[in-house]
Amino acid sequence: MIETGEFDFESRIVSPQVINGDDSDIDYSLRPKTLSEYIGQDKVKENMSIYIEAAKKRGEPLDHVLLYGPPGLGKTTLSNIIAHEMGVNIRVTSGPAIEKAGDLAALLTSLQAGDVLFIDEIHRLSRAIEEILYPALEDFTIDLMIGNGPAARSIRIDLPKFTLIGATTRSGQLSAPLRDRFGIIQRLELYSADDLAEIIQRSAVILGVAIDREGAYELASRSRGTPRIANRFLKRVRDYADVMGDGRITKDIAKIALDRMEVDSLGLDSLDKRMLSMIISGYNGGPVGLETLASAIGEEAVTLEDVCEPFLMQLGFLARTPRGRCATDLAYKHLGIPKTSSDDGQTSLL
Ligand code: ADE
Repeated sequence: MIETGEFDFESRIVSPQVINGDDSDIDYSLRPKTLSEYIGQDKVKENMSIYIEAAKKRGEPLDHVLLYGPPGLGKTTLSNIIAHEMGVNIRVTSGPAIEKAGDLAALLTSLQAGDVLFIDEIHRLSRAIEEILYPALEDFTIDLMIGNGPAARSIRIDLPKFTLIGATTRSGQLSAPLRDRFGIIQRLELYSADDLAEIIQRSAVILGVAIDREGAYELASRSRGTPRIANRFLKRVRDYADVMGDGRITKDIAKIALDRMEVDSLGLDSLDKRMLSMIISGYNGGPVGLETLASAIGEEAVTLEDVCEPFLMQLGFLARTPRGRCATDLAYKHLGIPKTSSDDGQTSLL
């Protein structure tokens, strides 16, 4: 399991982070292995299948790929699929795990021609490591310093031609020189309820869980566009179905279970609600700066930015303005909070 360091999502049932637990093996088996098994992200799939076919036709490794988008959308899964479709091995690591030049050199020199090196959270690579990576990506060489002081000398090592797949939730934090070295840049979008319902039904078959169409849609519509959350809900709702019903997940069972998990009808959890409520009641609907908001509710700004905001913005509940975050009319309505005249003054800026 790749350590994430920055976040503490463990307490959130809707957390898109991988949670280490007794069913993490099962989670892995739910992952599709080929592009044809992969549901959703149609544009990314269509593009990648062309690039993969073309590279294979020319007998070349695939160009370096950057995958970005909110957590839990399948960046790691897609990287494994790309390696599988290319018929090559994949080495998996993460930005924070590569601390020293030697760590990166060891990884790069262990690759075989055509292999994929997958670096999750690539925005967390240090600048020093990034600089070693540039010639590796461009010319398939690395320059390493051997020894210390006056005896120190630089040696050049030739590498096999490989494909780097970088994944990040925040492409804006990637340095321009690193971003420019990716020939293929793909953004993953939050999934539609239809795609999530299909993913849930596929996972239910693999897990041997009975679920009807309405049950799958009930889960899908509360999974905030994220397959990792949908699959987690499926497992937890199965527990309710086993204990409270006949093991079959119906709309009613899904509703009861998700209500008990404090996930509302649109998929908002208590953190989303705390965030919106604070903007509304603490700052008259906004605008309020992200850091101010994060400290007001005692949460990390990155969690709000990476996890809550993409979803709340997709729902049209949150607007990001140059002066800060604002709650929209739709957010007031969903939370059942009436707008006052002081709120109007602020949000009319929208
Ligand atoms: N499981 C998790 N993500 C998936 C996807 N995109 N397609 C199929 N199964 C999945």
